[in-house]
Amino acid sequence: PHIKERTTPQWALYQRENFWKQNEGTTPLFNTGKYYASSNAGMSNTHLANRQAFYRHRLIPNQLIDTNNRSTKTTIFNHSVSAPIGFAPIGINKVYNPAGEAAVSKVASELNLPYCLSTAGSTSIEKVASANGTGTRFFQLYMPHDDELTVSLLTRAWESGFDALILTTDTWQLGWRHDDVASSNYAFYRGFGADVGLSDPVFRRRCVADGIDPDVDVVAASTKWIDSVWHGRAWSWEKIPWLMETWRGITGGRPFVIKGIQSVGDARRCVELGVDGIVVSNHAGRQVDGAVASLDALERIAEAVGERIYVMFDSGVRGASDLVKALALGARFVFIGRLWIWGLSIQGEDGVRHVMKSLLADLDILMGVAGFNGVEDFNRDILESDPKNY
Ligand code: FNR
Repeated sequence: PHIKERTTPQWALYQRENFWKQNEGTTPLFNTGKYYASSNAGMSNTHLANRQAFYRHRLIPNQLIDTNNRSTKTTIFNHSVSAPIGFAPIGINKVYNPAGEAAVSKVASELNLPYCLSTAGSTSIEKVASANGTGTRFFQLYMPHDDELTVSLLTRAWESGFDALILTTDTWQLGWRHDDVASSNYAFYRGFGADVGLSDPVFRRRCVADGIDPDVDVVAASTKWIDSVWHGRAWSWEKIPWLMETWRGITGGRPFVIKGIQSVGDARRCVELGVDGIVVSNHAGRQVDGAVASLDALERIAEAVGERIYVMFDSGVRGASDLVKALALGARFVFIGRLWIWGLSIQGEDGVRHVMKSLLADLDILMGVAGFNGVEDFNRDILESDPKNY
């Protein structure tokens, strides 16, 4: 309702500051969402590095190629999808708009793009599955300290038709995020139903044992949920085979992915362990300040292990040319985070649809005018790159 002009693919990117100015303080949750969506670790150095890395590569267009039959289509783990674009896992979507994860996963299914539900989601696994219908969907795990709880989540994800498990390794406590600290925003989850957890039978038993009624004491139960998956980590590399085998055992071998990889050493370790895929990601620059750009990490990692494991990417993508650069540098698939969460904040379900349809249109037109017919055309030769500075 607030935005009349919605004509650019990067609408959410450019409109959000105005939107926030116009709506500042209208609801307590509004401010929470505003700060939480935008906060970066420390001085935002990693976020800036993520963005700058894209400018060091430029696309080389080719002329007089018939691109009338071009296609953005691809496959991910044997699922045919509209484009190599997925919805990155983002927690507590109802902070941004009451329509929450159900609306987002519905749009993902409509557009035939994979959707990834976060462990910190504010809508249950089962409700998301029902909204997503026949869509391709993944479940992102923040691994609980309690194995019985982990098994319960994996079983629910399997029963609800989630096609892959994505374990996030970079966030077992939130990074030092200046905007959140300054706005005392770290209490955000207390006001919010962490429904992925609150609807879990094992977690509900744990709540009752602690004298918490999860249907009444939503604040206490949500806080306990976050404490069950973050705030100290009871596991490390040694635990990965157990998790991977447990997931594969429950699902009959559905893919197991690790998200948050930035070093070649860690990527090699994933290959050695037999992990199906990795997401090269630095969590949009929200965890380690002053860290390497995710795009630079991608280039190194794809060179080292791209032939041996399914390499995916996220962090900093704001338009189709960023996407194409990541694919040209060796990613097979790219996830989008802030673009759609901004769309959800500004205009709910329609905002998400607009942002993602615009990104698809941006990609289609870019391919047309630059002379690319399909994702197989994206390789190192289509880039002019500045000398490596790492
Ligand atoms: C995230 N991200 C994230 N990742 C994850 O594995 N589980 C989660 O719950 C969240 N939550 C979350 C909230 C918000 C507000 C943001 C911005 C990000 C990280 C996310 O999946 C992804 O890695 C980045 O958002 C990708 O970078 P861009 O596209 O946002 O630049």
